[in-house]
Amino acid sequence: MALAERPYYRQGCNLSQSETVTEGEQVKTMPEERETEDSPISEADQILLREREKQRERELMERVEVLHKEVFPSGRPRPSQLYPDHALPLLDKNSSRPSNRKHTVQNVSLAANLMEALDRTAAASSPSVCVTELGCGRANLSAAVGHHMMHRDALRLTASGSPPAPTPVDPSVSTEEGGRGHAFVLIDRMRVRRVADRRCGFIANPERIHADIADVDMSLVQSVSERPHLLGVAKHLCGCATDIGLRMLLGSDRIRALAVAPCCHHRCQVNGYLGKGWLEQQGMGGDDLPRLFRIAQWQSMLLHPSASDPEVRRKGEAGRQVKDLLDHARCMHIRTLPGLSCELVDFVTEDDLSLERRCILAWREEE
Ligand SMILES: C[S@@+](CC[C@H](N)C(=O)[O-])C[C@H]1O[C@@H](n2cnc3c(N)ncnc32)[C@H](O)[C@@H]1O
Repeated sequence: MALAERPYYRQGCNLSQSETVTEGEQVKTMPEERETEDSPISEADQILLREREKQRERELMERVEVLHKEVFPSGRPRPSQLYPDHALPLLDKNSSRPSNRKHTVQNVSLAANLMEALDRTAAASSPSVCVTELGCGRANLSAAVGHHMMHRDALRLTASGSPPAPTPVDPSVSTEEGGRGHAFVLIDRMRVRRVADRRCGFIANPERIHADIADVDMSLVQSVSERPHLLGVAKHLCGCATDIGLRMLLGSDRIRALAVAPCCHHRCQVNGYLGKGWLEQQGMGGDDLPRLFRIAQWQSMLLHPSASDPEVRRKGEAGRQVKDLLDHARCMHIRTLPGLSCELVDFVTEDDLSLERRCILAWREEE
């Protein structure tokens, strides 16, 4: 069936008004720097404009440093790298290559943070949740969530005196408590090979959706509509896709908890970026926002071979602080939504594991 004929397809339903998805959009120049054919900018004026832009950048960075100290007095979001013992076999299984190991630690920790957020809700012991992964790639994160959930279900059933169900995450199996069991929905606009759900055994019969998350109406996705509770996860969802994805998940009345790790902040869009209001309240409105998106990419300098140079390091740290504030601002927006709590944590705490360590955790305390 063609994508447009699928029941959940509603073009642009998760975009904010005036938002457009332009892959790889990046603000390279400030408005006054753009020349037109009618008014070419002289070389002298270009130098002047560049100097002026650098000055504005410096002033903005001074404000960022002050605000960062206020928001993160310890210098970082709360560290929350979690690796429960029951997930150790996953590490043994994936330890052959350092990059596999790194991704396993990221996935297990992100999934464990999601479980902690779930524990703060009335759905903590629900036998019937739908887990939706956005920008899932090979879905290794869902596999880690599936592993945690199997473990929780086994503990819950043992505590209640029932024998553990053979495949507690198989959506076709009705649970003892009368629910429909858990389900997984995996969304990505790209098709990838060697997907985890066909290998790991922790997610049975997931619903795979090959579409842009901007166009998927969660209320019309079968696995979501059949279960009372929705959980959302994403690891390293690029730029504006994080805002679109958060809007999508938070727009569902079934959402109970989410753990979303953003990345590529330079691909955010001013229209649609969820933290805009809070940053404006902090005096960072107008042209500051595209400037912040651009400065965010300096963080990668921390891994550059010349990172021992103090100037390179300073710029790298500036990029890191900007990313912290951009994600904190998203959290502050989520906190304004009725019934939702939100916190920014570092789901990994070492640069070697990832520079993109931030995770937006949100949960609904009441049913
Ligand atoms: C950096 S990769 C991360 C993949 C995986 N989550 C991981 O951590 O290994 C980002 C993924 O998000 C997907 N993606 C980005 N924007 C998207 C969008 N608007 N709709 C659907 N998928 C998107 C990409 O196709 C890609 O697979």
